[in-house]
Amino acid sequence: MTRPLKIAPSILAADFARLGQEVSDVTEAGAEWVHLDVMDGHFVPNISFGPAVIKALRPHTKAVFDCHLMIAPADPYLAAFADAGCDIITVHAEAGPHLHRSLQSIRALGKKAGVSLNPATPLSVIEHVLDDLDLILIMSVNPGFGGQKYIPAMTEKIAKTNLMIGNRPIELEVDGGVTVDTAPHVAAAGANVLVAGSAIFKGAGVDDYRKTVEAIREAAEGGRR
Ligand code: DX5
Ligand code: ZN
Repeated sequence: MTRPLKIAPSILAADFARLGQEVSDVTEAGAEWVHLDVMDGHFVPNISFGPAVIKALRPHTKAVFDCHLMIAPADPYLAAFADAGCDIITVHAEAGPHLHRSLQSIRALGKKAGVSLNPATPLSVIEHVLDDLDLILIMSVNPGFGGQKYIPAMTEKIAKTNLMIGNRPIELEVDGGVTVDTAPHVAAAGANVLVAGSAIFKGAGVDDYRKTVEAIREAAEGGRR
């Protein structure tokens, strides 16, 4: 099964003073999803934004809102992120003791449920929830900051995740250090959703964003062939 390729720009690297315009520009540039990195200064050593900001961004694009929660605990806030207009809500397996319950709560809110794994976390922690989720997010850097270098050992982890997914309808997303250079490896290993923050937002405006989104897409298509 070949899952359609999607580019998901992370607005963590966008201009926070003009987020509405940034979200609209990057969507116009051809990105299918907008990746929203929520950080609490506790699960990760950085603080970004929460549901109120996401709610304010919602009218600026029709693109899928792909919300990556780097917060612990996550469960008390799931309803707020659903209300804010997130389409996919991803929790970290490391962030709470009852992953299965968190995923069920997301689906009960009518949203797609994702799980993310830090580079150090083995795939075995999600073996029991493969029929309870819509997306697996493999972190290819330690979460907390944009602009870090892709960890090469994650390519094999992506390939193992792809095998584990088999024919299940699960998106395989990779996040951290994705560039035109790393995209072919990530895609060849089986990832179909590529998050890119600094690679895309180092440019300014729709034309720059379109060039990078297209370049990453072409690089990834090359890896898939
Ligand atoms: C890291 C975030 C990523 C980050 C990616 O904790 O989850 O989404 O913004 O940024 P780049 O593409 O710059 O590595
Ligand atoms: Zn992310």
